[in-house]
Amino acid sequence: MQTDSSFTFVLFGGTGDLSMRKILPALFEAHRAGGMLADSGKIVAVARHAADRGEYIQWVNEHVKPHVSKNGVDETAWSSFLERIEFVKIDLGNPEDFALLRDAVKDLPGIRVFYLATGPSLFVPICRALASVGLNENARIVLEKPLGYDLKSSNAINDAVGEIFAEEQIYRIDHYLGKEPVQNLLALRFGNALFEPLWRREWVESIQITIAEELGVEARGDFYDNTGALRDMVQNHLLQLLSIVAMEPPYSMDSDSVRDEKLRVLRALKPIDPLNIGKVAVRGQYHAGGIRGNAVPAYATEPGVKPNSTTETFVALKVEIENWRWAGVPFFLRTGKRLADRVAEIVVNFRAVPHSALGASALRAGANRLVIRLQPNESIRLYCLAKQPGEGMNLASVHLDLAFDQFFREGQMEAYQRLLLDVINGRLALFVRRDEQEAAWRWVEPILNEWKASNKPPKPYAAGTWGPAAASAMLAQHGTCWLEEEN
Ligand code: BG6
Repeated sequence: MQTDSSFTFVLFGGTGDLSMRKILPALFEAHRAGGMLADSGKIVAVARHAADRGEYIQWVNEHVKPHVSKNGVDETAWSSFLERIEFVKIDLGNPEDFALLRDAVKDLPGIRVFYLATGPSLFVPICRALASVGLNENARIVLEKPLGYDLKSSNAINDAVGEIFAEEQIYRIDHYLGKEPVQNLLALRFGNALFEPLWRREWVESIQITIAEELGVEARGDFYDNTGALRDMVQNHLLQLLSIVAMEPPYSMDSDSVRDEKLRVLRALKPIDPLNIGKVAVRGQYHAGGIRGNAVPAYATEPGVKPNSTTETFVALKVEIENWRWAGVPFFLRTGKRLADRVAEIVVNFRAVPHSALGASALRAGANRLVIRLQPNESIRLYCLAKQPGEGMNLASVHLDLAFDQFFREGQMEAYQRLLLDVINGRLALFVRRDEQEAAWRWVEPILNEWKASNKPPKPYAAGTWGPAAASAMLAQHGTCWLEEEN
């Protein structure tokens, strides 16, 4: 990917965790690879916790360098990367300081990108302060999640930001959309003739989408306790994955064709009936347990978490899409912290053959299934039935495996790297449009409200398991179970 798009990339929250772990390492990787970032492009870090550029560069050396390139740092590339970095000390609470930023960027080249790697409460004040010094013109603004706490608060942010930046200037990040395997899902669905005719209610019995984590809440107990898994993972990552799995083929990959199709899916989600919520939504919270042989504490004893917290660390949902293609097909979504394995995957369970001339063993052996593993170890596995060797017609399930690292040994790109390059190059397809975000909140909100109103505590599960038994019972009602296999 060659580029001549010059840029000035202004990073608010320049000494924050996200800048340290993701944003600056991703920019370094793009720089190191060569040809992806224009030579003249500059990074302007904005922070309060460094006195000057020298101190900031020292911080980058100490804190960012350990997060770049797993195979060791290329020192020549690292020094030339540091030369791209400028620094402006600003107190974000003081709008007058933005004149310093205006002066710092006025002679810098290319398109201006403002990346707000800060808490959402600062989004609007920063945008207003940028506008007060004229920096909103012809610029792009990147907003990190969480964007709001519910529909009302997300609308309030979007309205206020929308008064300053046009929708085409706003890049709302959902890092799942930047993941290589999620891109591959589009390739699988729309680059192959094989799957599309089967990708519908006539041939698909159910679909599962899992994002399971072994990690707990780490140092984010306070944030997480006010958020919970539904807001942290379902409203954004899981619903985005669902919309890509279920969408109609877009007529092109341009940003609005893709986002229009995703939006149609989000708008077609069957609203959750509050009276029926126990049948279609399970919330859980982890208790003490063990992950890979190591004891881990209960959620309620994690730093920053209220001891009597009722925040969910696990969610399982049965979702339906009310349209011609998917009517009646259950989509089971689940996500959780401190689960038995770290895995993100999509499982498409196909229907059994309408009539088996091959006898009972064909039915016992199950039906076709496509398992798209997003992480770790991206792969696609297609389960088919085959005759067992020997006498008689006994069938067994076998699989065709496609492990991506066997085909493509190099060139994998981290989600943040892809997304940052897209911002710099003005490609909006992998960013969430406002109407998509609203549709997702609109669907999620009744669940949040009902959980709040019912005042029932989440169901307990031991850390290191697959979540509360109720999540399995929900699938059992539909004659199926979660796929939980070793890869
Ligand atoms: C983030 C959530 O958006 O995604 C985190 O806030 C979660 O709680 C993370 O751990 C998971 O992302 P990934 O890329 O590690 O699967």
